[in-house]
Amino acid sequence: MINGSKVLDHPIRWAMVGGGKGSQIGYIHRSAALRDNNFQLVAGAFDINPERGMAFAAELGIDPDRCYPDYKTMFEKEAQREDGIEAVSIATPNSVHYEVCKAALEAGIHVVCEKPLCFSTEEGEELVALAKKKNLVVGVTYGYSGHQMIQQARQMIKNGDLGDIRVINMSFAFGGYNYKIEETNAAAKWRFDPKKAGPSFAMADVGTHCLYIIEAMIPDMKIDKVLCSKDAFVEGRELEDNAFTLMRLNGSEHVQEGAKVYCWSSSINCGARHGHVIRVVGSKASIEWDDERPNQMTYEIEGEPVRRLERGAGYLYEEARVEDRIGGGHAEGLFEAWANLYRRFALAIEGMSKGEEEYGDFWYPDVEAGLAGVKWIEKCVESANNGEVWVKY
Ligand code: NAI
Repeated sequence: MINGSKVLDHPIRWAMVGGGKGSQIGYIHRSAALRDNNFQLVAGAFDINPERGMAFAAELGIDPDRCYPDYKTMFEKEAQREDGIEAVSIATPNSVHYEVCKAALEAGIHVVCEKPLCFSTEEGEELVALAKKKNLVVGVTYGYSGHQMIQQARQMIKNGDLGDIRVINMSFAFGGYNYKIEETNAAAKWRFDPKKAGPSFAMADVGTHCLYIIEAMIPDMKIDKVLCSKDAFVEGRELEDNAFTLMRLNGSEHVQEGAKVYCWSSSINCGARHGHVIRVVGSKASIEWDDERPNQMTYEIEGEPVRRLERGAGYLYEEARVEDRIGGGHAEGLFEAWANLYRRFALAIEGMSKGEEEYGDFWYPDVEAGLAGVKWIEKCVESANNGEVWVKY
């Protein structure tokens, strides 16, 4: 159970790039990182507009000397301080991730980066190699994977409760982008600009969350090939607002050879909120998890009544109970899931700094997971652009 007990020798001196005033995701980064006192926000370059960013930093209570106009100045000035930053989170539009991540690693700073990590596998591989060379952590905020029921699913699959996995049916298909929202909403506008968003909108924005969740549930999962069909249904969009992806998996310990995964990534699913549901079908049983009801997961054994597993319950695997913060019955949510991830990032940073490499089943979305998402987007786009054909992974 997490109850605020001290975990690290000292809180990690932490900064943010992006996530400025009015941004969509900045606040949850701060809430999650600061929740357990493992990080201390000491500096920031929060905004594309330097004055606005510095004013916001001051509003957050940051020392005026450490409210920076841009990330380059921040890394340079912080390197001159004895108490300079040790970690930085990047919560900017996608096009900025790679350059800030690379600069941070070169400056010897651990990174938490938004998804997608970068635009191409070449860039991703470079970041993987750099993080390794510098012995630094790169965490990626696939925030939903911090929910405790994802841990439960991982243990159930590992222990063979589902038998061999044959089918995964998943979606992150939200509504609200069924008209030109980008004409009035700045955060939607950059998402359809390939220079700022990269080669994909719907798959990069939401499909990668599904992908990481199943990677977390099935750590040895190997994609053999992908087939993708994507569309921009709303006229004038340069990037897809809807995509269907089919994947064939190689066999592994708990995956039947040729298992199929279907992923619907969408922003035009009228009437839906998130539409983010993961159903894993094995040879003995299925599980289903919905991000809008994250405290529950159904467990359906063939021939038996449906069971609804509840977060925090004593019958869950131990691994699914260690991050319980308030006891079963109380609803935890996305803020707790993110806080769990930030806690793991902090533990990984401390472990890495002390040279501890063995974490047991401790896992977090790392730089390899960031690269995996980028590769998936690349392969899906290749498949769709080549006439919706199977593409070898
Ligand atoms: P947004 O457009 O609402 O905010 C972006 C922020 O970054 C703004 O404060 C802007 O001023 C700042 N910024 C832009 N360029 C900058 C630069 N060069 N230096 C410093 N600050 C800069 O965007 P939103 O929706 O918050 O998305 C940011 C990132 O977070 C994206 O990569 C997106 O994919 C990701 N995201 C992730 C989610 C998740 O569940 N993990 C959910 C929503 C967004």
